[in-house]
Amino acid sequence: MSYLIAIPRFIILPRQRHAVTSPRAVIPHGRSFFSLISGDGIGREEALAFDFDSVVDRRGTGSLKWDRYGDTDVLPMWVADMDFRSPPAVIDALSERVAHGVFGYARPEAQLTETVVAALSARYGWEIEPSWIVWLPGLVTGLNMACRIAGDSGDAVISSVPVYPPFLTAPGYAGRHLISVPMIRAGTRWQLDMDQLQTPAARAAAMLLLCNPHNPCGRVLSRGELEAIAEFCLANDLLLCSDEIHCDLILDDVKHLPIATLCPAIASRTITLMAPSKTFNIPGLGCAFAVISDAAVRRRFKQAGNGIVPDINAFGFIACEAAYRHGGPWLEALLDCLRRNRDTTAKVVNDELPGLSMHHVEATYLAWIDTRDLGLKNPADYFERHGIGLSDGRHFGRDGFVRLNFGCSEATLHEGLKRLRAAVAACG
Ligand SMILES: Cc1ncc(COP(=O)(O)O)c(C=O)c1O
Repeated sequence: MSYLIAIPRFIILPRQRHAVTSPRAVIPHGRSFFSLISGDGIGREEALAFDFDSVVDRRGTGSLKWDRYGDTDVLPMWVADMDFRSPPAVIDALSERVAHGVFGYARPEAQLTETVVAALSARYGWEIEPSWIVWLPGLVTGLNMACRIAGDSGDAVISSVPVYPPFLTAPGYAGRHLISVPMIRAGTRWQLDMDQLQTPAARAAAMLLLCNPHNPCGRVLSRGELEAIAEFCLANDLLLCSDEIHCDLILDDVKHLPIATLCPAIASRTITLMAPSKTFNIPGLGCAFAVISDAAVRRRFKQAGNGIVPDINAFGFIACEAAYRHGGPWLEALLDCLRRNRDTTAKVVNDELPGLSMHHVEATYLAWIDTRDLGLKNPADYFERHGIGLSDGRHFGRDGFVRLNFGCSEATLHEGLKRLRAAVAACG
């Protein structure tokens, strides 16, 4: 019997372990989310109270990730959403809001903004003003709005490649010209080819789009790398749009540094995009924000969305506040699980699958796998025919690569890796 068919619909297997349902119950006495998220780790027992083992059947729930393959026996490990249920505190807050029953237009309450301000301060030492926050229905919206204020029509916008696909399309949608700068291998990690920024065309560009932590390369850019990018933008008068959606998903013992915190000069030309969506697995709720300290840049950014960008929905706001306020312990437990999954994936890919390789993933739940030694014409299509749905590297601007999402239960990951093994074996 196939793996997919073996999972009954809407049943959580193998066991339901939600020992914790109340947001207050999950925070150890005397500790707030902010102390927890700022590195004050929680104990093993507390982490175990959350369930990352059960396989939640997502088929037939209108899931982009799972419904793509319908009833066929393809295990989806592509788009960047995880298969885990959100933190109990988020589910409780949403349930309470649903029970209220009136779903009119929403606005961000002061306590939500205060929560975000406090989270950025606790996590990154980033002291922002509430007025710097611009709420958005998603980061992709923010990327596209940013490109619309990059110089004039016909000007250039720089992005790394490979990168999350909307970075490659947003400049063109805004009538701007894309300059792509490759991520190159430096020892065991990927880094931006800074030499490519020294061309006259790059120096004349209007904006640089930064993805940090980097999707799909899994890098957390170091202070030195960020300073070099900031210096380039300052020296050549570029705006900077920094997508930091994966900033709380750091798996290594390294710190995420928002580029806007480097110095006031770089902050005043930076649009930072963030969201609770990847961290707490709520991307379907459509709630994100930009942080823009410069009033003129902020005004232009808002104007770019006038009449087009919808307000954020009530559930997005509710989930965002609950996640940042109470989601710390869940996040700690999630990161433990992702570290294990990352290590398992890397070991199998690098040690057991000749023809496949991946670099170490410092952040995110995404493995960027080089399949070029297998000599496949269309790797994503090949793996799909062997029962595993991966993201196609071509959409990220790189042929010969696939991206595997390991944000899933251990059982699902093992099944996916089993299919990957069988596919590679069938290749020879
Ligand atoms: C780097 C990056 N930015 C943005 C997004 C999507 O953001 P949103 O769903 O808020 O538009 C993703 C989703 O995978 C991503 O990886």
